[in-house]
Amino acid sequence: MIRIGIVGATGYAGAELVRILSGHPDASLTVLTSRQYAGQPFEKIYPAFKGLVGLNCEAYDTDQICSQTDVVFLALPHKLPMAFAPDLLKNGKKVIDLSADFRFSDPVKYEAVYQPHTSKDLFSQSVYGLSEVFFDQIKNADLIGNPGCYPTSVILPLYPLLKDGLIDVSTIIADSKSGASGAGRSLSLTTHICEISESFKAYKVTGHRHKPEMDEVLTGAAGQSVDITFIPHLLPMSRGMESTIYASLKKRVTPEYIYNCLAEFYSDCPFIRLYDHGIATDTANVRGTNFCDIGFFLEKDKNRIVMMSVIDNLVKGAAGQAVQNMNIMLGLDETAGLNIMPYPI
Ligand SMILES: NC(=O)c1ccc[n+]([C@@H]2O[C@H](COP(=O)([O-])OP(=O)(O)OC[C@H]3O[C@@H](n4cnc5c(N)ncnc54)[C@H](OP(=O)(O)O)[C@@H]3O)[C@@H](O)[C@H]2O)c1
Repeated sequence: MIRIGIVGATGYAGAELVRILSGHPDASLTVLTSRQYAGQPFEKIYPAFKGLVGLNCEAYDTDQICSQTDVVFLALPHKLPMAFAPDLLKNGKKVIDLSADFRFSDPVKYEAVYQPHTSKDLFSQSVYGLSEVFFDQIKNADLIGNPGCYPTSVILPLYPLLKDGLIDVSTIIADSKSGASGAGRSLSLTTHICEISESFKAYKVTGHRHKPEMDEVLTGAAGQSVDITFIPHLLPMSRGMESTIYASLKKRVTPEYIYNCLAEFYSDCPFIRLYDHGIATDTANVRGTNFCDIGFFLEKDKNRIVMMSVIDNLVKGAAGQAVQNMNIMLGLDETAGLNIMPYPI
């Protein structure tokens, strides 16, 4: 069995890792860390796991985690993983970081958006963990920068069409909506039930930190500079994310052409589900699962495409994709631990 450590296990992404990895046929949870809840049974923090997860939370200890694990997931706020990853890698661990610390190809880009980086030497070995797009690089990686939830939902529908040269890159607008768990478990006024229920609003309209992450990957797909307009919104629900993406096309094509372009690119990808032309996706259909459902509409008279994608921000947007990446890194079945049936309603 592969021994797993989760650092920051009591956060929303960490707890989702616990949920998924508890059902993984080849993995065994050995270390769950937390500062606030050190010494307490994990099932006491999340009673949903009563009788199912027997581990106690522990304070982080490098020697202990190195002796008791093979793979370590860092489910911490950004800035912390850059300090934890070097020792883990030196000790031969595979490291999957769910924060932004290792998502960029260049520390300068990271520092322009976040803060000074203290492990710049690791950028040459980190791989951006968008599983369907960077599968071959992930196979050989020891360090993964797991993508943000918004970038996952925006990049996956666009990537094949940008590679195909079909989209006028100056026209891309991504209008995304997230459930409140995207902000993590810490209490904050922005996600207080009285502030978000019966309400719907945009936030960080011109300055969300996920935009540069998207632009970098989309630029790689298009082979020319991409600078999208990205507007995030907060939804009054706990989990789920929808992105509606608008763009003009460079040539006239049929719906079949678009469908085939997407289907060919994602032909070996078990977690991408394509909808026929003219059918809108729905977050309810992917709740709790690692699926990304993609739909599209062609506005023929304007020669414009409207794409839609839905994911569960905590699964394909975080913990599920992290486990998918672990499976790829270790040569396991990509779907191991992730064959979760969606709820029908
Ligand atoms: N939520 C999502 O939908 C989502 C999606 C994609 C990526 N992510 C990324 O995943 C990471 C975790 O997000 P989250 O939503 O799970 O956040 P969260 O709910 O706030 O959890 C953060 C975890 O980190 C621990 N922690 C905080 N400060 C620490 C410190 N100084 N040293 C050690 N542990 C510390 C916390 O536990 P203690 O305070 O007990 O130590 C907690 O377990 C973030 O980088 C986030 O950007 C989240």
